[in-house]
Amino acid sequence: MPYPNSMQNSIKQVEATRKYRMDHPFPRLTAEEKAKLLEMYHPDYKPEGKRELRIGPNKGEPVPQELAEVLEGEPFVDPDKVNLDRIDYRTDVLIIGGGGAGASAALMAESQKAKVILATKLRFGDSNTIMAEGGIAAATEPDDSPVLHYLDTMGGGGYKNVPELVEALVLEAPLTVKWLEDLGVMFDRLPSGSILTHAPGGHCRRRSHSCKDLTGLEIMRVLRDEVRNRENIFVLEFSPAIELLTDAEGKCCGALLYNFDTQEYLVVQAKAVILATGGMGRLHMNQFPTSNHYGATADGLVLAYRAGARLIYADAVQYHPTGVAWPEQMLGQLITEAIRANGAHLVNAQGEMFINELETRDTVSSAMIRECTDRKKGVRTPTEMDGVWLDTPMLDLIGGKGKAARQFAGIYRRFKEYNIEIDKEPILMYPTQHYQNGGVKMISGSGESEIPGLYLAGEVAGGVHGRNRLGANSLVDVFVFGRRAGVGAAQYAEKITPYGPGTLEHLRKFKKEFSDRMDVPKLRSPILLPDYINPERKERKYY
Ligand code: FUM
Repeated sequence: MPYPNSMQNSIKQVEATRKYRMDHPFPRLTAEEKAKLLEMYHPDYKPEGKRELRIGPNKGEPVPQELAEVLEGEPFVDPDKVNLDRIDYRTDVLIIGGGGAGASAALMAESQKAKVILATKLRFGDSNTIMAEGGIAAATEPDDSPVLHYLDTMGGGGYKNVPELVEALVLEAPLTVKWLEDLGVMFDRLPSGSILTHAPGGHCRRRSHSCKDLTGLEIMRVLRDEVRNRENIFVLEFSPAIELLTDAEGKCCGALLYNFDTQEYLVVQAKAVILATGGMGRLHMNQFPTSNHYGATADGLVLAYRAGARLIYADAVQYHPTGVAWPEQMLGQLITEAIRANGAHLVNAQGEMFINELETRDTVSSAMIRECTDRKKGVRTPTEMDGVWLDTPMLDLIGGKGKAARQFAGIYRRFKEYNIEIDKEPILMYPTQHYQNGGVKMISGSGESEIPGLYLAGEVAGGVHGRNRLGANSLVDVFVFGRRAGVGAAQYAEKITPYGPGTLEHLRKFKKEFSDRMDVPKLRSPILLPDYINPERKERKYY
């Protein structure tokens, strides 16, 4: 028996209400109801856990405490002691980050005849991209259009998105899916041969293209091979960036890397730099569990912030509604929204629906938090966590026998390890930290930041998603802006001669501001890897 006895009675109630629920969908909320729910339950709306930044370009703005700590952290190196005269590598375009954004930027920059170095913190491919499950959004169906995709994306982001960036996203999304297909990505297909699509929360049309629930893995399989096969891309693994380099005019002209294996600093001179470092999921905001990979420690935000780039919506954190609450070994792992898009309901301990599961993520997560807190209708686990059920046996009831095991093969297998069969039993969920909605401010559709020579791609960049990203809009962002930044950086590099002598002047200024403030905590950053053993952090609940 996979679930403890204490949870079995609730499962019976889920089974007993299934037939009724299938005939009675939960109604959508009005805009007013939604706003009230967010205000009362979404962690972004709570002042607790936030503090104002004391230094840097966003000084005075509140951000999550965990992010403030790393943004105001003590740099690794003393700019007066580090030797920048010994240049280890010289290249046209340096890309920092080895996920989908970095890989696609590298391919496009190389296609523009640039010499490229792609430096990654861990192995090439270790990223949130490779863990992406649900799919990539693009208006490819006959009843869809980029206009509808645009309106959905703006609505999901609370109309705070930068319109020009959203326009670029939705117009290039279909072309980007085609580019991936042409490179060899095998998207799911219907028996007719046409591509299978589904509609995640907030999308009014079916437009997410998947590779079962292993979409990111399939895409990175292809992109990694492609990058490795290009003559002018050199991949440098286990070498995270710890500072950017700037020239006398403040232009970005390289980076200081730290080689994990040799523990040496590496100086890379570049004509243009692309930050593709992903997000901050491993900072565990408000002590939430996370769906993110180990490298998601906000490094890119730290580097750009110190160099003088402003952040936008740095306080907007996405908690994905369906993170695993039980079994404990899987805590926080992502359970794709595509399961809800294929009909599975979210229900409380009594088998009651409490939200339409295809509302936007911020709304669904808030409703789940309300159910587990104020309403006390969550299911208690032996680890004293509360969650609500995702009624996965509905997948086979709606989609035919074998649908759950076939379409959600990865999730099916992961639960099977713990003797839970998702086609027969529901699974227990609680929101998990999933995405940073904002990031370093992107000022043009070519991925430019406020610092000349510094380009952005993927989750590190802010503006595209406003304050709440829609499902499947991350993969499309990663590849649309990865490709655009690759081209933009290569074209910029072409105009730069000679290589600028790289300095850490910006760091000197940052350190001065830092040392003037005695109240700034002295954590060393970028932290590079999450700290799960520091005794000061033991009070944290979810790791
Ligand atoms: O639910 C998911 O599969 C997640 C997709 C996304 O974050 O875009």
